[in-house]
Formats: sequence, structure tokens, C-alpha cells
Amino acid sequence: MSFLAGTSLRGLGSRSTVASTSSAVLRSISTTAPRALATPAQEQASVSDQGAKGKQPHYKDVSIYRWNPEEPASKPHLQTYKVDLNACGPMVLDLLIKIKNEVDPSLTFRRSCREGICGSCAMNIDGVNTLACLCRIEKAGESKIYPLPHMYVVKDLVPDLTQFYKQYRSIEPFLKAPLPSNGKEHLQSPEERRRLDGLYECILCACCSTSCPSYWWNQDEYLGPAVLMQSFRWLNDSRDQNKQQRLEKLENSFSLYRCHTILNCTKTCPKGLNPARAIAAIKDEMAFGPPKHTAQAPVVADAQA
Ligand code: SF4
Ligand code: SF4
Ligand code: FES
Repeated sequence: MSFLAGTSLRGLGSRSTVASTSSAVLRSISTTAPRALATPAQEQASVSDQGAKGKQPHYKDVSIYRWNPEEPASKPHLQTYKVDLNACGPMVLDLLIKIKNEVDPSLTFRRSCREGICGSCAMNIDGVNTLACLCRIEKAGESKIYPLPHMYVVKDLVPDLTQFYKQYRSIEPFLKAPLPSNGKEHLQSPEERRRLDGLYECILCACCSTSCPSYWWNQDEYLGPAVLMQSFRWLNDSRDQNKQQRLEKLENSFSLYRCHTILNCTKTCPKGLNPARAIAAIKDEMAFGPPKHTAQAPVVADAQA
């Protein structure tokens, strides 16, 4: 479950929850919060004194994208905060939490696990889509933080992932196979299981899809690298018996073939995965048929009995 820090939220998919039982309470917090353009150094120093005794403050300016749907007349803007890095954890998520807790409770972002597992804290940090909890704070210079690019914004750093999850749902990301007749589980050999490595680890953070120019311009119809990699994960699963139908759904000019192998997706993935290779493998299979290993019959419990 992810945690949306500081706002009410509509239509965001099942991974998100709001961090309060009352959105009215949250709204009152966000509208009464201070919105100063910069934190005075004096005020910041008194905060840092508690966290970094004996250390000289090391201030850094961080500019963060702000937009509040409850103030529709106000345009999106960058708001700059001064943060003492000697009184802050090492990651960008630590910095955001510090600002929210100590300076500006109206700042809104998603987060949950803070260890690169939930995918909630994906955002654009200094021009790169990544996870705030896995991204070290750059000590020198100013930093700029935006929501994931080319997405509708719910508030501040929170993108609207409704379409992304709708596309994920469309590939039916679950095992489709009749129950084994002995009523037990579907079995896989270690080799068949290994074919899912590099695919199942995806946390659906959307960093790759929102870095893909083809996805920016054709988001309504092109599935994008994250969803296509999950499609390949199920195509590549020896237990699944819906392969032909899965491939047929991709056989059109938009769902798959808008990928032009630009490789932004692979470059940006914070989990070190390779969605571009998965897309190439699907194209290969569409053109030349299944690779030898996937042409074989799935290993099922019956066959092992
Ligand atoms: S492939 Fe990587 S960047 Fe893309 S959604 Fe999965 S974890 Fe995120
Ligand atoms: S390789 Fe394909 S999916 Fe990845 S960024 Fe390029 S066009 Fe997008
Ligand atoms: S908070 Fe879960 S991935 Fe960053």
C-alpha cells in the first residue's frame, strides 16, 4: 500500500491510500500551511540544531513543483526550500519528508516502503525519472524535483496513474490456465522459473513509461514499456496457457509497435531492469514464432505425478 502524504485523492488505483481517515482534515491542513518561497536560514538552523549537534549546517536549495487543484486559478510553480543536509537523511525522500514535517505540511507526494519496493515515490529528480527513496541527495548545487513527466497531476508531485493501471489491467496480469486435475499447484522446473528473472522484479513505478517519447505522444493506445514488460512476463510463463490470445491482443499498430527502441526506458529503470529487451523479445516472437524453450508444453502437476 502506498501513502499519499497530505491530500485527498480521487481515482488513483488500488495501490494508493490516503494518509488520514478524513480528507476534510487534510484539506484544512494543506490550505492553512505556510507557503513561503524560501525557508529563512534562521528558522532552518534552529531545526537543524536538534538533528546535527556540533556540525556546521550545510544548506542546499531544493526547488519543488507545486500545484494545488483547490486553487485552480494559480498556475503550477517551483517553490524553493533551503534544507540543512547535515540534519537530514541521505536520500531525496528523507529530504521531502523533512520539508513536509518541519517546514511545509502542504507539500504532497506519495511514499510507502522507503526501500525501493512499492514504487510509490517515483518522480523526476534533476531531470531523471527515479525513486526518491533510492536517490541520494546531490550535495552540491541546487536540485529540482518534478512529478513524472507527461502525466496529469493530482497535486504537487503526485501523478495521476489511472490510465497506467487501466493499461496494466488490460494485459490480464495473472495466470490463465485450467486447474491441474489433481487439484494441486502448477509446477515449473527451475529453468522455467529462471525465465521470469528480470521481469517479475518490476515494481510498476512507471519511471520507464514516463520517460518514453512514444508513450508521451500515444499514451491512449501505446501500452508503454512497463506494461509491455509485464505482458512479456506472462507470455514467458511456462504455466500460462493463454499465450495465443495474449499475442493477438498486441497485434495492432499501436499497442506494441510504437516502440522505436530509443532505450530511454532501460536507461532510467531504478531497479536495473531492461523493458526494451522484453519489448524486442515480444516483437521477435510475433515475427518468428516462439523461441524453442517456450514452444514446449508447460510443466504441470499432472506431468510430475
Ligand atoms: S521496468 Fe523498471 S522503471 Fe519500469 S515500471 Fe518496472 S521497475 Fe519501474
Ligand atoms: S525502447 Fe521503446 S519503450 Fe523504451 S523508451 Fe524507447 S520507444 Fe519507449
Ligand atoms: S517509497 Fe516505496 S519505492 Fe520509494
